[in-house]
Amino acid sequence: MRYITFALAKGRLAKKAMDILEKSGITCEEMKDESSRKLIFVNEELKLKFFLSKASDVPTYVEYGAADIGVVGKDTIMEEGRNLYEVMDLGIGKCRMCVAGPESARDLLNNHELIRVATKYPVIAKDYFYNRKHQTVEIIKLNGSVELAPIVGLSEVIVDIVETGTTLKENGLCVLEEICPLSARVVVNQVSMKMENERINEILARFRAGLLE
Ligand code: PRP
Repeated sequence: MRYITFALAKGRLAKKAMDILEKSGITCEEMKDESSRKLIFVNEELKLKFFLSKASDVPTYVEYGAADIGVVGKDTIMEEGRNLYEVMDLGIGKCRMCVAGPESARDLLNNHELIRVATKYPVIAKDYFYNRKHQTVEIIKLNGSVELAPIVGLSEVIVDIVETGTTLKENGLCVLEEICPLSARVVVNQVSMKMENERINEILARFRAGLLE
């Protein structure tokens, strides 16, 4: 029997996903050793492999079949636009994709002015402004701490993830428009879904059972 391989977005999401699987009897003891530098973990009994990767790489591993199953945020799935099946909403890591900025930027948005938008998510930002709002904007790609951009005058607004809203608040910014809700999803390689249908359905059933625990 071949291994079924999981790619998990490293960090909080991976821990929560493993907790869900553990509740339904899929464990990986090796993975809990936080001092280990190992990249790949095996459950020999169930013929499963797990690895952690940068969130934005999870859809890539799954599209190419290097992983059969992935657990990653909806934000990353939308931004990466890979060919894969999104099969389950785990309902964890809930947050929102928003347009945010100083209150003074509200009028610029309402008047459809040519503003600058800083974001880690240029695909999502472009789709929102061009296809949904029909507003021409200049998108500036950043790699983190996006809230800085309107403060230092790089952009008028940002497109970013808002969870509690604390980061915005502490920096004198607020949510101006809501783009979409986000949460962690299970994604599956399109060929694996056909070739390993039975085992993958079994794993998805375990995810569902784990969520109910
Ligand atoms: C995310 C996001 C916000 C923050 C929102 O950043 O980009 O900065 O969390 O959370 P809050 O609404 O609860 O304050 P992350 O920690 O992922 O790091 P980043 O700065 O690299 O984007």
